[in-house]
Amino acid sequence: MARIPLLMGNWKMYKTVAEARAFAEALGQQSAALGDDVEYAICGPFTTLHVLRVMLPTQVKLGAQNVHPEKEGAYTGEIAPGMLAEFGTKYVLAGHSERRMLFGESDQLVNQKVRAILEAGMTAVLCVGENSSQKQDGITKEVVTGQVRHGLEGLTAEQVAGVVIAYEPVWAIGSGKTATPDDAQYVAKEIRAIIAEKHGADTASQVRILYGGSVKPDNIASFVAEDDIDGALVGGASLDPTSFVAMAEAVRGVVR
Ligand code: PGA
Repeated sequence: MARIPLLMGNWKMYKTVAEARAFAEALGQQSAALGDDVEYAICGPFTTLHVLRVMLPTQVKLGAQNVHPEKEGAYTGEIAPGMLAEFGTKYVLAGHSERRMLFGESDQLVNQKVRAILEAGMTAVLCVGENSSQKQDGITKEVVTGQVRHGLEGLTAEQVAGVVIAYEPVWAIGSGKTATPDDAQYVAKEIRAIIAEKHGADTASQVRILYGGSVKPDNIASFVAEDDIDGALVGGASLDPTSFVAMAEAVRGVVR
């Protein structure tokens, strides 16, 4: 089965409701550029999700950046999976490096989140990636495949097939530096190999793997052109509707 490319924006802690509405309106005006040969999603801050659901062009799916693994409870300030699923959230990020680093999320917690996202009927986007010292030490493959193994623990092959993995080298996020397409392809292939080892080649061939880290309109095609890279997770360059459309067109150019 062919993997449908996925262009996913991660807005992080940017955009008010008014700004999100303006983005959605602008994207709506250019929606003819978003063909159905590619899937699109925006992971907005929680407060923007409602306006995004109402205003985004139908091709663009709703994503969230975080979730708590429990169904409900006394967890002040947290959002449960069912609350996100209720109003049509399709994708939820788990284990973004900013959450791992700044909020101390462990592999175990990330795994709990992945499971909870799936149980609520949404698609988990498991984020993995090495930091600069791990890269210097030459342990990128070990770090990344370890994060993938832990993140997918306890899942059935069928569940794994539907998960999206985002490979984002930590040193490339927001830095203007990217991995080379060759290096990103190497890691993506290793990710697919570790999934194949555990869950079989057929399952591994269905998993979509995104590259992330300083992706922009002028470099996205070089990543998506790689065999094992099925799209991109984009921070800064997803905030501007014109740039989002330019990336959509670049990805569509590779697909065609
Ligand atoms: P960036 O962020 O595109 O701004 O580097 C990517 C991400 O953190 O998902």
